[in-house]
Amino acid sequence: MARITAGVGVSHVPAIGVAMDTGITDQPYWKPVFDGFQYSREWMKEKKPDVIFLVYNDHCTAFDASCIPTFALGAAAEFQPADEGWGPRPVPVVKNHQKLASHIAQSLILDEFDMTIMNEMEVDHGLTVPLSVMFGEVAPEDEWPCLVIPLAVNVVQYPAPTGNRCFQLGKAIRKAIESYPEDLDVMIFGTGGMSHQLQYKRAGLINAEFDTMFLDMLTEDPVKLSKMPHVDYLREAGSEGVEMVMWHVMRGALNDEVKEVHRHYHVPASNTAVGHIILENVAA
Ligand code: DHB
Ligand code: FE
Repeated sequence: MARITAGVGVSHVPAIGVAMDTGITDQPYWKPVFDGFQYSREWMKEKKPDVIFLVYNDHCTAFDASCIPTFALGAAAEFQPADEGWGPRPVPVVKNHQKLASHIAQSLILDEFDMTIMNEMEVDHGLTVPLSVMFGEVAPEDEWPCLVIPLAVNVVQYPAPTGNRCFQLGKAIRKAIESYPEDLDVMIFGTGGMSHQLQYKRAGLINAEFDTMFLDMLTEDPVKLSKMPHVDYLREAGSEGVEMVMWHVMRGALNDEVKEVHRHYHVPASNTAVGHIILENVAA
């Protein structure tokens, strides 16, 4: 049987990828950002997942205004890193566990979650930066240490799905994974956030108090947190802070009770508050 072993929440910022790709992670601006992932990289090596189910958002790379799926599940054999304007990132192609992805698609759709199925898709910084910070530098000719099933969530074009919808989807993903017969350790990543606004008058907004409350409640009262309306994210965490609804998919897929084994929070990284949490399932 496949099982979900742990959840990871982690921000994505394009400049973090650039810092790793250009070898400047030891510079004073970047060192504190990356120091907070040292524990996580050791933890990944110890836990060795077979598959990561990676919840992320596309930034008008694979999708644009012509097609806006709320939930798009990657079913292709592999996903190339996209060219976001400066050439594709020098990281390996992302390889899927196609059979598990197909099983999850079937289980979710029959469970009344109307997924879009992606049989071709390039992936942007929303997916590759979380992999990079958690695994460290991996050369493009090498392989990522595990297979990855991407789930792209629309948080760019209003309306994004609610936190509650994301939380319920997490529960359905867990049911799908636990009904797959192969013996697999699966981790689930919820990515994006934390507080940041890239546009107009409040560009540069950061709210550490809100972010800390979010991280605390993710462990302690995830159901209440998942019911927070969009307007609270926009007001408190900025227009791009709404990316945080994706963390509820991760939390919904875990046990009611989880153990927080690591947390990291740092400002600034580009325009964004970088937040990171590792939650392990407590045995029932
Ligand atoms: C930044 C953050 C994002 O979430 C993103 O998608 C692009 C840029 C930033 O902080 O610069
Ligand atoms: Fe983003």
